[in-house]
Amino acid sequence: MDELSTAGARAAALAAGHLAGVADRPVWRPVPDADRAWLSGQELPETGRPLEDLLEDAAARILPNPMGNGHPRFFGWVNSPPSPAGVLVEPLAAALNPSCAGGDHAGPLLERTVVRWLAELVGFPHPPGGGLLTSGASMATIVCLAAARQRAARADGWDAREDGLSGRPPMVAYVSAEGHSCLHKAAQLLGVGARNVRVVPVDARHRMDVAALRAMVAEDRAAGLRPFCVAASAGTVNSGAVDPLDAVADVAAEHGLWFHVDGAYGALGVLAAGAAPRYAGMERADSLALDPHKWLGVPVGCGCALLRDPAAARAAFSLVPAYLVDDHADDLGWFSEYGPEQTRPFRALKTWATLSHLGRQGVTRLVEHTSGLARTLAAMVEQAPDFELLAPVETSITAFRHTPREDGLDALNRALPVALQRRGNAFLTGTRLGGRDALRACFLHPGTTEDDLTLLLDELRLAAKDL
Ligand SMILES: Cc1ncc(COP(=O)(O)O)c(C=O)c1O
Repeated sequence: MDELSTAGARAAALAAGHLAGVADRPVWRPVPDADRAWLSGQELPETGRPLEDLLEDAAARILPNPMGNGHPRFFGWVNSPPSPAGVLVEPLAAALNPSCAGGDHAGPLLERTVVRWLAELVGFPHPPGGGLLTSGASMATIVCLAAARQRAARADGWDAREDGLSGRPPMVAYVSAEGHSCLHKAAQLLGVGARNVRVVPVDARHRMDVAALRAMVAEDRAAGLRPFCVAASAGTVNSGAVDPLDAVADVAAEHGLWFHVDGAYGALGVLAAGAAPRYAGMERADSLALDPHKWLGVPVGCGCALLRDPAAARAAFSLVPAYLVDDHADDLGWFSEYGPEQTRPFRALKTWATLSHLGRQGVTRLVEHTSGLARTLAAMVEQAPDFELLAPVETSITAFRHTPREDGLDALNRALPVALQRRGNAFLTGTRLGGRDALRACFLHPGTTEDDLTLLLDELRLAAKDL
């Protein structure tokens, strides 16, 4: 065997061993000082080393210091464990190492299939070429909002790429108070300006208040501004709330706004039994961001922008210099014409493998299992005298807080996540919801059990004792 074969077998064993042993180790622990120094302070080596040597370092210094998201009691942010199928094929993508900008090879062709599958899974219309894989939802959102901006400019007889935005009526975007920060970042990056991103209030269930949206759009139009886009959420990051998508779509249609749905985390929630009515209207969106690296567990990073009219994204990004002209490309052209990335990694392989391994039924089971855990935790919280539920469960996130005493609950719940994390037995993160410091547990791991939920609440009680 050559060096790569021998070391590759060892790397595969290390990866499999790491995943097999994850549940028996702490969910997370602070990086020990010696590892911290090694990880962040190494000198550039003058001479190289054998491949197997590198794996010894990985085994000693890297694998023991994970973020924690492989563990069944990791409930932080929206970070899933890796799908086994994704782990399996990552080395193959690296071995091929294509750029999936375009061309006639496996990468771009498989990406066509995977994007279509994702659209089919969530019931989004899929014209040929209607989407592309991205680094994550932040990039997908940039793609979608850039398409929205260019469509609005063209409708008004100008060109945002040619002319820039200056001298035009300010474009205005609408995002709910629970909308993800990536929506704001995208609007800022695209020159819309933070001042022109309207924050629409939410109702008691943390969903966009559509009457307020309608009034804000009307007011902005009357003031001579140019409302161009509304971004709703199919699963907010704080509580998993799904905005009233159908009603938002109505406002978008009335005012000619681009209707974007941030389903980065929650779009797949539509697969849970009985959930479809809550998602009604998602299929009316002009664009939908959906992250395979969230609920599906495709190894990071993989997002997806789904587009009702792919030509809108092409109009926003296509720029083909002589050295990239492909006379043999089909009518859809290259993926790099639909977004800002030129050299693009082979994200389709790990997504294809994950979806092929799970099938539609497996994805549905995963969504059902994890959504059920969120509902069960909510029920446990409601029954416990020292916890309070802060939002109804709409996807697989439970938002709650610890209430062992009357006073200082914001400070307590703000400090609790880190105190819990340091104990190493469970991991969740905090937020602010409805003006209060809150805990949120996001369930994405197929191996999490109801016993883990009991342990989580007990661990929170223990961690709170020292605060
Ligand atoms: C609802 C929601 N939207 C967007 C994002 C941003 O996605 P990414 O981190 O893949 O860029 C996240 C990330 O957690 C999210 O939860």
